[in-house]
Amino acid sequence: MKILILHGPNLNLLGEREPAVYGTMTLNQLNVQLKNFAQKKKCSLKIFQSNHEGELIDLLHKHRSWSDGIVFNPAAFTHYSYALRDAVAAVNVPIIEVHLSDIKKRESFRKISVIAPECLAQISGYGVKSYTKAIEKLCDTLKRKK
Ligand code: DQA
Repeated sequence: MKILILHGPNLNLLGEREPAVYGTMTLNQLNVQLKNFAQKKKCSLKIFQSNHEGELIDLLHKHRSWSDGIVFNPAAFTHYSYALRDAVAAVNVPIIEVHLSDIKKRESFRKISVIAPECLAQISGYGVKSYTKAIEKLCDTLKRKK
């Protein structure tokens, strides 16, 4: 099983960025946890982070054929990027939107995701577990299809 992990803007600053909201784990530490988890699940990961909308679109396009599934944290783009929504709709790969924080319990602008309607699911509010739950769900869904 091949899974693409995409982290959106400002997630490179995890660990120092608003620790009361996002915790103190760095992006590197989070990625190590994901790699360990994926190894146990026998799936391979490619992981990227970008602060740029166009680059995230390019990454979705570029890795769409390699990926069996995608775990995507679009960060603030979640709430307004129709370009990313269209990219998610364009690639024929199951995508799960994830968030570290619970976006439903924060400012009202965060309650809306323009991307989630094009995704298999949205998992929000479990910290690093949002990502591992998403990997698990993709593995289960893909296994059932085989
Ligand atoms: C986030 C939630 C978004 O609202 C925010 O803009 C982020 C991070 C999360 O993982 O909780 O940058 O996607």
